[in-house]
Amino acid sequence: MVNPPVRVLARGFSVSREHDRQALFILRHHRGFPAAAAAFVEQVGERIFVVARALGQFQDNCLVFFHDGENSSISGMTTTPSLPGLFIVRHPLVQHKLTILRDRRTPTKIFKELVDEIAMLMAYEATSDLALEPAEVDTPLERMQGQRISGKKLTLVPILRAGLGMVEGILKLVPSARVGHIGLYRDHETLQPVDYYFKVPGDAGERDFLLLDPMLATGGSAVAAIDSLKRAGAVRIRFLCIVASPLGVARVHDAHPDVPILCAALDRELNERGYILPGLGDAGDRLFGTR
Ligand code: PRP
Ligand code: URA
Repeated sequence: MVNPPVRVLARGFSVSREHDRQALFILRHHRGFPAAAAAFVEQVGERIFVVARALGQFQDNCLVFFHDGENSSISGMTTTPSLPGLFIVRHPLVQHKLTILRDRRTPTKIFKELVDEIAMLMAYEATSDLALEPAEVDTPLERMQGQRISGKKLTLVPILRAGLGMVEGILKLVPSARVGHIGLYRDHETLQPVDYYFKVPGDAGERDFLLLDPMLATGGSAVAAIDSLKRAGAVRIRFLCIVASPLGVARVHDAHPDVPILCAALDRELNERGYILPGLGDAGDRLFGTR
């Protein structure tokens, strides 16, 4: 059988919305690249591949990849034609920690530590395609050419309050990142976001932003926060949340199709009070011990 040529439809997180043909996936590959898959994928980063023609089938939004029995682990970020621009971080450590986070018995101290750790692991994925530039370095033995991240410092922007819980973990990975803040809360009656604070670095147009909030429920807060960031000049924004709802993803995607969303889980639905089911409850209250 002659395979059709692979057409790369996406780079990094900027997923094309051309779904006229086959499903499109961005995959991270942790071990060896399966030779049997070579005709169907194109490498766009050190360990990032774009699949332009799916060989497998869906299972809970995952791609089951056939690779002739080779020892391979294609996993990590997947997206689906129905929710393009959503990347679910399926790393086992993230999923394990998320289950403890959801547990109603998990105390505030552990909850805070888990949000911190999950945010760090998600940021590892979210930064996997940052641009690099060559950098000379003297090892104890000789001079060589290494690489360093180029451009302005990455900027983290937590949505207050709960987004604050994600900042420290990411700063452990990227200690030089700048930190802006967006103050928003959801009116309990109307579920509409009410904004009360905004501060980000002045040269927003030249920076990569990671917008942080553990919960994406109706999407109102995320859409409002992205609106504010864009008014300040930001053009490269990624939204990191821990638990997302289908409605929230759709609303962010409709309002801001250029903003990729990374989450650890896409949950079932919202209840009548706008809480995510099964969810993890009120993230701000659980993080800060308020109720
Ligand atoms: C929570 C959460 C998000 C928002 C999500 O914050 O941290 O910001 O709700 O809901 P949405 O997608 O329906 O807008 P909340 O408004 O409870 O404020 P808090 O973090 O100060 O507790
Ligand atoms: N905000 C939260 O903290 N949890 C939800 O389930 C929805 C919004």
